[in-house]
Parts: sequence; structure tokens; C-alpha cells
Amino acid sequence: NTINDYFFYEPAFNTHDGGYVPLEEPNIPEQKLKIPEALKPDKETDTDMYYTVIAEAGESQIMPGQKTKTWGYNQPLLGKTIIFKRGKNIHVTVKNELSELTTYHWHGLNVPGDIDGGCHTPVYPGESKVLNFKCDQPAATLWLHAHPCPSTAEQVWHGLATAVVVKDEHEASLPLPRNYGVDDIPLILQDRKFHEDNQWDYHADYDPDGVQGPTAMINGTVNPYFDVTTQKVRFRILDGANRREWRLHFSDNLSFTQVAGDGSLLEHPVNFTHLMLTCAERAEIVVDFSDYKPGDEVTLYSDDVPIVHFRIHEFAKDDSTLPDTLFKLNAPEVTPDTPVHKIVMSGMDEEVAINDKKFNMQRIDSKQILGSCEIWEVTNSNDCDGGMIHPYHMHGCQFQVLSRNGKTPYPNETGLKDTIAVDPNETVKIKVWFDHTGVFMYHCHIIEHEDGGMMAQIEVQDPKKPQKFNLMDMDTL
Ligand code: C2O
Ligand code: CU
Ligand code: CU
Repeated sequence: NTINDYFFYEPAFNTHDGGYVPLEEPNIPEQKLKIPEALKPDKETDTDMYYTVIAEAGESQIMPGQKTKTWGYNQPLLGKTIIFKRGKNIHVTVKNELSELTTYHWHGLNVPGDIDGGCHTPVYPGESKVLNFKCDQPAATLWLHAHPCPSTAEQVWHGLATAVVVKDEHEASLPLPRNYGVDDIPLILQDRKFHEDNQWDYHADYDPDGVQGPTAMINGTVNPYFDVTTQKVRFRILDGANRREWRLHFSDNLSFTQVAGDGSLLEHPVNFTHLMLTCAERAEIVVDFSDYKPGDEVTLYSDDVPIVHFRIHEFAKDDSTLPDTLFKLNAPEVTPDTPVHKIVMSGMDEEVAINDKKFNMQRIDSKQILGSCEIWEVTNSNDCDGGMIHPYHMHGCQFQVLSRNGKTPYPNETGLKDTIAVDPNETVKIKVWFDHTGVFMYHCHIIEHEDGGMMAQIEVQDPKKPQKFNLMDMDTL
């Protein structure tokens, strides 16, 4: 059975925003999809991996003519894909070659607060710092992005975002495409407006409900094509846009199989023809091109605008089949006295807040004990008509989705997640536990909402080793 539904409440789609910027089909020739290289470790041993990640400014040929001024990690725009192997000790030197401070936020990575890279861990221009942590979480597609408050949105818009892939032995045992760059491809979906001389102008395009542009940009490529040379291709799709939701579907209503969400494989693969991703969410899908022959073209659309063209070439037959169960989620038990923690996301534009408060770097909004489990009830109090979907994200953990307005979650929400779209008037219950101590942000991932104060923070303590965490202040930054 194939699901044909985007699930969410149509009147709340971003197409109904006052400031909605519809995508337009770019009027430039098709260009080969840029596939970020895998970042080479500086060194790798049986137990350790060493990387250097440099935030830098540069120029990128995105449109014909003038190059665009862009930012990236180890390259002028976006970054190389960073691969962590589960069980290894990771050492990342992060270096800031920009002219302003930034942070290196590992979105979806289960690490202590001082490694997480939220707004309390600035790296100033010219500085570098070494992050040491153990990678211990299931295989997943995560990402790295800048997170200095309150200019996360602007730095991500400049290009500071890249894919992070966690590998583990379980995933390696499954018949999934994993030849990186050939049949295992990240697709970072973003949108931009190209102003005069092909430049971006964040301030000119500013909208407190999220900055958008009419041109889809996939891995930094406008109007991309991808050469399909294997029957099955796995796409690791990341909504890396500041605001845009992507409602994805293929030509011929081609169905595809979602195998993973944000933080793990799904418990069971799900067949779809339509998939909506909200900001910061990831979906790994496997597309089977067996019905096509060399010379054919398949198109990926968002709403009715083509965003990627797939050119079909000769490929070998692949009749591998996936098992019905891909992953078993291992979450702590809920008991009748599991505490319930209520979060309300409210407002739009400048009025956004969490539990009626705007973010304050010096205020701890909630506390949880290391390893303990809580139910969080996350509500979007916007009205159904005229409200919007808020993608709710938590740092430092991967959660389990329990229900949506009391009903079973969608079939592609069975794995671990760190970002969840919440419809207007909806309450999503999630099970939250932390494996590491520190101060972690939770917020709406429409990045302008986050910067606008729809963000709060939680302190996670180990009662056996209480710690004092250093909170930065906007003024001390
Ligand atoms: Cu994608 Cu606060 O992060
Ligand atoms: Cu995050
Ligand atoms: Cu929001």
C-alpha cells in the first residue's frame, strides 16, 4: 500500500502565508547537481576520527554570469559531508575564518551541551577550538549549521549548513544503496532570491515569519539534473531552508520508499507518492527507477515546480528487497508517574513565543535529570485558519513521537526524530530523554522564529555530578 497524503492541514501550508514566495522554475539551463564530497578525516584509527571544519567566506558560481558571495564549511558554499562512525571517538577542530562570531551546531547529534554548538559556545573570528566526543547513536542523516543567537537565520542563509552522516553496523547490514555520490546522495533543499549581480540580500528579503526566495537551490545548484546509473538511488533529503516547506512528489506519481527520518531508520519502510518536509527535517528515501529506460527523464517537484531532473542511464538490475523491520526503537518506559512537560508555541511574525516568553540566553526554562524520561506535550496554539505549521526541534536528544492530538503518529514517524512539524491547534506528544548533560535549546526551526524568540532552553543535570553551566549573554558576545 502506497500513501498519497502529505498528512498536514492544507490551510496551514506556507502557501497561505501573507508573505509566501512561490517557487518559480528557473530560467537557466540545467546544471549537473553538485554532490558535496565526503570530508576527508585528517586522520582515522580503529578507535578515533579527526576532522577539521573551517567556516569561511567565498564566492560560488550558482547562476550564469557573476558569482554569488557565499559562506560554507571547508568550501565557499554549504560544505563537505561529514561522516561519523558509531562507536568512535571524534575530534573535530572547528575554525572560524569569518569576520563575525559563529557557532557549530550539530543538529541531531547526541552530545553534551558544550559540544552541541548552541548559542553558548561562540567561536570568535580567527579562533579555533577542538571538540572531543564519542559518536554513539544509530545511523542517520544529521546536519551541521551555524547557531549564533540571534543571527542563526542569516548565517544559514549565507550558506553555513552541511550534511552529517552517522554510520553503524546495523545500517550497513541492510540492502540499502550506500555508494556515496553514486547511489547515496544528499539533497539539501533551500531557496534563495538572486538580486542584482546574482547576489543574495538577506535584509532586503527579511520576513519575521521566515525568509524565502523564488529559486530552489539543491546542494547549491539551481535547476539541477542528476545522472541515474543504478536502479535504486537513496536520497538523504534535508529541508535546509529557513522557512520553506517542501511538498515533494515525482513525475508519473512515481512511488518511493522512506527508510529513515531525522535520527534513525524508520521501524518499517513506508511507500509514498507524496512527502512533506518542514524546516530541518530529514527523510531518507529510496527511489526505484526500474520502470524507466536510458534516455527517460524523471522529475522531482515541490508543489508544481520542478526542482530536480533525473536523467536515466543504463543500469544493472537490482532485485534486492528490504526487510519489513528496519529498526527497533529503544526508548525508556513510560509509567503513570512519568512527568508531563507542556510546551506551547504561539504567535506569528514578531509575536512568536514559547510558553508566552521570548528566548533569554540567561534564563533556564526547564530542567531534566540525565537519563530520566518525560512526556513533552508540544502544542501549536495558532488557529487552524490563518495559523502556520511550526517545526519544533530539540537539541541534545532524539525523541520518540507518541501521538498527534491523541491519534497515532504518521507512519513515517516511527523512528527517532529531533524535529517535528506541529499543525495549528495540534498537540504532539513526544517521549524525551537525554543521554548527556548540559544546556540545550528547543525551538521552532523556522529560523526567523527561532531568532525572533520562539526558543527556550533546558538544563540537563546528573545529580551525582552537579555542574555549573556557563550561560553567555547577548551583551558579552
Ligand atoms: Cu537546527 Cu537549534 O537547530
Ligand atoms: Cu539543533
Ligand atoms: Cu514557528
